[in-house]
Amino acid sequence: MVKHSLWVAMLATMTLSTQAAVLTKDNGAAVGDNQNSITAGENGAVLLQDVQLVQKLQRFGRERIPERVVHARGTGAYGEFVATKDLSDLTVASLFKAGTKTPVFLRFSTVIHPKGSPETLRDPHGFGLKFYTEQGNWDLVGNNLPVFFIRDAMKFPDFIHAMKPSPVTNVQDPNRIFDFLQSQPWSVNMLTYVYSNLGTPLSYRHLDGFGVHAFKLYNAKGEYKYVKFNFRTQQGVKGMNLEQTRDMQGKDFNHLTNDLYNNIYAGNYPKWDLYIQVLDPKDLNNFDFNPLDATKIWPNELIPETKVGTLTLNRMPKNFFNETEQSAFAPGNLIPGIEPSEDRLLQGRIFSYSDTQLYRLGVNHQQIPVNRPRVQVNNNNQEGFMNISERDSEVNYEPSLKQPKPAAAVARAVATPLAGTVLQQAIQKQQPFKQAGDLYRSYSAVEKKDLIRNLAVDLGAVKDAETKHIMLSYFYKADADYGTRLTAAVKGNLATVKAKAAKLQD
Ligand code: HEM
Repeated sequence: MVKHSLWVAMLATMTLSTQAAVLTKDNGAAVGDNQNSITAGENGAVLLQDVQLVQKLQRFGRERIPERVVHARGTGAYGEFVATKDLSDLTVASLFKAGTKTPVFLRFSTVIHPKGSPETLRDPHGFGLKFYTEQGNWDLVGNNLPVFFIRDAMKFPDFIHAMKPSPVTNVQDPNRIFDFLQSQPWSVNMLTYVYSNLGTPLSYRHLDGFGVHAFKLYNAKGEYKYVKFNFRTQQGVKGMNLEQTRDMQGKDFNHLTNDLYNNIYAGNYPKWDLYIQVLDPKDLNNFDFNPLDATKIWPNELIPETKVGTLTLNRMPKNFFNETEQSAFAPGNLIPGIEPSEDRLLQGRIFSYSDTQLYRLGVNHQQIPVNRPRVQVNNNNQEGFMNISERDSEVNYEPSLKQPKPAAAVARAVATPLAGTVLQQAIQKQQPFKQAGDLYRSYSAVEKKDLIRNLAVDLGAVKDAETKHIMLSYFYKADADYGTRLTAAVKGNLATVKAKAAKLQD
């Protein structure tokens, strides 16, 4: 490891000094003329021997890689997480020992819109965090809103297909979005967040970050608890209303990215406090909702949150593509002491991210500097495109008398009791509307007004009356005032809405 980094540093110095002096081809040899192609005489054709021209065109044509299938537009920054509360009774994860400083990379993003899209467009916003811990990398890949639209990974591709532009016109279409969402009544909770002004944040510094799912923390005795991770911004949560968003669109539709670069360059480092909520597995069934359902929060009055540390962002990447674009976050990147819960959405995510990254970035993407663990990696992976692991051992199998052994019991899957039968059915406590109603009632008068105006833009564009009225009945069921005002805003029929709402389960 040491030998490797010295060598890289030496090479970097050599390359830099040469580069500063002259322009080179990819093999490091000087380019003579970078303005004119080599031709066969004054009016003759261009020669294939012009390696600089050929190389330049070849590399240009290969500059793009696939954009992320979701969360394509984003901005990353480095920083550190400092633990302030000792959690060793809860977890063997050493980053939670009070005083421990862990380097991080955080990538903010929008979800649906493509790589170069305006940052003024409404969306949940990604909060993907990589902790480079001394036990390996831990990725907490969250959003700025505490719940999600759906609760089963089986529906994720359908949901994203409906949210993305139409395959016919390449234009995003509320008719398709609500045609799908009318089948997912529990999405009303997330819709009540995303159509508030939180769906158009003022800046990346002014949003919270939520792990959304429950995870498991386990201690040295193998005892586990369910835990939610909530990052609260110290800058205050601020969103923009319709007029402010349109105004920003005219002024600077890269405002989220520009704001982050400008503030961090100026030394104005944003901070977030991390709070956890802890639930004993024996209490899992003590609620009228399922705590492992990603469409639900754990209300603070039922499960209070405790501050456990602070995150500060303090450095921007030197190169957007190398670092931000090639960063790869995966909910499956876990460390000893942290495990996924049985949340069905999370279970699908554990598979999907690394799988996507094998395609988007290649099999050795964890060797790219931004993704590389800060501890030595001793796996037996072999070969694959762009492998720079520099392994020099003959022993690429395990067990061997000469190989490092698997770690002791702390890194073994935590023993979790099981009961029941293999099933394929929806969860029991669906409770589609209650939290959406609570959320609506928690909003101020202005927030309610903004929410209804924002929702009316998209729901009002739905042409199919049945789809529109099914959706309206969900909002009505969540809260009668909410549904009534929204129905008026989109010129729906309140009697139809009420009749449909009366048939819905609680
Ligand atoms: C089953 C449900 C889900 C699936 C299958 C899924 C899948 C994906 C995939 C394939 C990517 C692109 C990864 C890449 O190319 O590097 C991605 C990105 C992302 N997802 Fe999900 N997702 C799901 C739900 C969620 C949820 C619930 C959240 C928030 C809690 C979330 C947050 C993110 C974030 C923040 C990114 C961008 C990470 C980055 O900045 O690179 N996703 N998702």
